[in-house]
Amino acid sequence: MSVLTVSSLAKRYRRGGKPFAAVDDVSFEINPAETLAVAGPSGSGKSTIAKLVLRLIEPDAGRIDFEGQDLLALSGATLRAKRAKVQMVFQDPLAAFNPRATVARVLDDPLRTHNIASRADRPRRIAALLERVGLDAGLAARAIHEISGGQRQRVAIARAIATRPSLIVLDEAVSALDVSVRGQILELLLDLQRQERIAYLFISHDLGVIRAVAHRVVILDAGRIAESGDARDVIAKPQSAIGKALVAATPRLIRNRP
Ligand SMILES: Nc1ncnc2c1ncn2[C@@H]1O[C@H](COP(=O)(O)OP(=O)(O)OP(=O)(O)O)[C@@H](O)[C@H]1O
Ligand SMILES: [Mg+2]
Repeated sequence: MSVLTVSSLAKRYRRGGKPFAAVDDVSFEINPAETLAVAGPSGSGKSTIAKLVLRLIEPDAGRIDFEGQDLLALSGATLRAKRAKVQMVFQDPLAAFNPRATVARVLDDPLRTHNIASRADRPRRIAALLERVGLDAGLAARAIHEISGGQRQRVAIARAIATRPSLIVLDEAVSALDVSVRGQILELLLDLQRQERIAYLFISHDLGVIRAVAHRVVILDAGRIAESGDARDVIAKPQSAIGKALVAATPRLIRNRP
């Protein structure tokens, strides 16, 4: 069974008084332990898809099935339980968290909200989560604004895995990091995926990064799927005009790396 199946999803906004489709007839599915990348130029609807899947916004049409259940039909306790299984990591953790909160506080949140550990057990769980993402347990007492961007993104990942999710939506999660830190975070994501069988909806404008981590890719053009397929195949031989343009804009070295 797929983790996530999105069918004929549509979201319209208004621009200059006229409605336009930010997401138009989008369908895809993601299997357990699989990474599906969503690529496309700025404004093509990538983040709108992320928000729809996370139910931060409601679609105008279409269906989202998560682990075989219609996500849009759920409410109350069942929705809360399912929500714990879908987590997110965004580009800027400084904006996602209260910058003055401590690392411990940020990680305590999901453990408390979803009743994952008793109060007495939580400090131990927080230390284990930090260790899991390659951070020193001593970091727990530090404030979010006092740690580096790479450390913050590791904390965001630790928070995301605290509920043992089956899907993590990552929207440009490594885009703000410098190249060496980016590589380390991608390695961590791959490790976690192998060990916990987490599926990723991996949104990125960077085909080099997508080629390194994604199994399949969907390329968007103005809200519609222009093409999709095996990530390496699509990047090696794009068929759509937008796919060709995106590949042409990617440095050759990255494109040809084995
Ligand atoms: N709340 C909103 N109200 C009106 N229009 C919106 C809203 N959110 C997004 N849009 C528009 O919908 C389109 C898709 O936006 P979206 O943020 O999904 O693009 P994106 O592919 O994530 O772009 P980027 O690569 O720049 O992050 C854009 O034209 C955007 O201006
Ligand atoms: Mg975006």
